[in-house]
Amino acid sequence: MSVQWIPELELGNSLIDTQHRMLLLLCRKLDIAIKAGHTGQTVQRIILELKKFTEFHFISEQNLMHEIGYPQVSEHTQIHNSLLIELQVELSKIRHHGESPEELLNRVYAWFNDHVVHEDLKIAEFFRNSPNRPIGEDLYAQFLGSPSSGAGD
Ligand SMILES: [Fe+2]
Ligand SMILES: [Fe+2]
Repeated sequence: MSVQWIPELELGNSLIDTQHRMLLLLCRKLDIAIKAGHTGQTVQRIILELKKFTEFHFISEQNLMHEIGYPQVSEHTQIHNSLLIELQVELSKIRHHGESPEELLNRVYAWFNDHVVHEDLKIAEFFRNSPNRPIGEDLYAQFLGSPSSGAGD
C-alpha cells in the first residue's frame, strides 16, 4: 500500500483540507516506519500521534458543522466515534497481543479515503452555500496559506 494525497480529497475548505493532509502525512509516516522495520514503542508512539490528531480533527470538523448549521451533525459525529472506538481496539491489540500495526494503517487509510470523498464532501458542499459562516473564517487565508473557496468573497 502506498499512502498518497489525491486531488479528489481536496474539499475547498482550507481548515479541513489542511487537517486531512496532516492525517495523510501521519499515515505516510507510519507506513515509512513499518517498512523501515521499526516496531514496539516507536511504532506505537506514531500510532498515538495519528490517533490524537484524528480525535483533534474530528472535533474541529464537528465544530465546523455546528457553526455552519450542517443538518446531519449527529449522524456524522457517530461515524467519527465509531472509527475512534475501532482505533482504540486495534491499538490495544498491538499493545497487548503483539499484532502487526499494518492492519491498523490499512484500515485507517481505507476509512479515510472513503469517508472524505463520501461524507466530508457533503459538508464541503453545504459549506459553500451556507449563509452561516464558520467562526474565524477570515483567518484561513492568513494562517493556512491558500484561500478557501466560498469564503464569502
Ligand atoms: Fe468527517
Ligand atoms: Fe474529515
